Amino acid sequence: MKILLLSSEEIRGAISMAEAIEAVREAFILVSKKKVIVPPRTHIDLEIHRGTSLIMPTYFPGREKIGVKIINLYERNPQLGLPLSFALMLVFEARNGSPLALLEASTLTAIRTGAASGLATDLLARKDARVAAIFGAGFQGRYQLEAVNAVRPLYKVYIYDSDFEKSRIFAQEMSSKLNLDIIVASTPEEACKEAEIICTATTSSSPVFPDSAIKVGIHINAIGSYKPHVREIPSATVARSRIFVDQREAALEEAGDLIIPLKEGVITEDSIVAEIGEVAAGEKPGRLSDEEITFFKTVGLAAQDIALASRILEAAERLSLGHSFPL
Ligand SMILES: NC(=O)c1ccc[n+]([C@@H]2O[C@H](COP(=O)([O-])OP(=O)(O)OC[C@H]3O[C@@H](n4cnc5c(N)ncnc54)[C@H](O)[C@@H]3O)[C@@H](O)[C@H]2O)c1
Repeated sequence: MKILLLSSEEIRGAISMAEAIEAVREAFILVSKKKVIVPPRTHIDLEIHRGTSLIMPTYFPGREKIGVKIINLYERNPQLGLPLSFALMLVFEARNGSPLALLEASTLTAIRTGAASGLATDLLARKDARVAAIFGAGFQGRYQLEAVNAVRPLYKVYIYDSDFEKSRIFAQEMSSKLNLDIIVASTPEEACKEAEIICTATTSSSPVFPDSAIKVGIHINAIGSYKPHVREIPSATVARSRIFVDQREAALEEAGDLIIPLKEGVITEDSIVAEIGEVAAGEKPGRLSDEEITFFKTVGLAAQDIALASRILEAAERLSLGHSFPL
């Protein structure tokens, strides 16, 4: 018996953002059709260490894989010079239960989370949207930008982070990587002024821009919050948006961006127009006019991880990537 070990670099080399977007499209459609088994994830709160461990199991019948990802998110890590999160994913063959691979899963998570916003942007943003604002110049923010640029080739990008130096490094790195004009915004208002697409990928627990700052017709992807009391988007913006989610149950359980406005009574559960998989499958409409605001909230699903991991394993076999270890 053997297991394949795949590093972050090998994962990046195995799949393009366009392919990742196709993988999450497949995952979200199957989630909405209730064809993937995605039990609610287990949160273990490690208050003493200001950390959370998320344990995310899934069975993906489409590609006959079982997976479990563990992602540990530690609030204080960035101050200690460590990444906010560490993650690993184990993949098993579903036909006989045998182990297949162990993947570095921080990169996997960032790619699939970027891909979710890429898919939502493709389905919901105005076709002529070309200016984006990214909130959060961290690990996720980079993949958010790459994914949005893959579906709406951008001509201008604003980056805003509460840490100016992080924004500056982001702009330098990503402008040469993606050949884009990236402007470091000094305020959230400046970042929003021209933006037609916004991605929020911060660790903030309160709204990162004021409702008055955004233009009509904008599309927003909010990926940062995954706890009921934490949010990035103001209630007033949520209340005047058409709302789309990755999965209703997960959003109502974890997404502070929706749970807080629900508690305030400014939206109801019926305000959630659709799961993104329903839009991707053509079962529900997306954007209805150029003037409306569309809002995609994702807390992240194990189905995205296994869909991406399955394709990465196929590519790894084709390209002879990774190291195989006897068990
Ligand atoms: N939805 C999902 O599927 C998903 C997946 C992975 C991570 N996440 C979440 O995404 C968030 C970002 O993760 P990361 O790995 O990029 O973290 P990170 O620490 O690398 O980056 C977060 C950035 O947000 C900035 N920030 C904090 N408050 C801000 C504010 N008010 N305005 C602007 N910037 C602000 C920080 O300075 C930092 O640069 C985390 O909360 C993480 O839990 C969500």
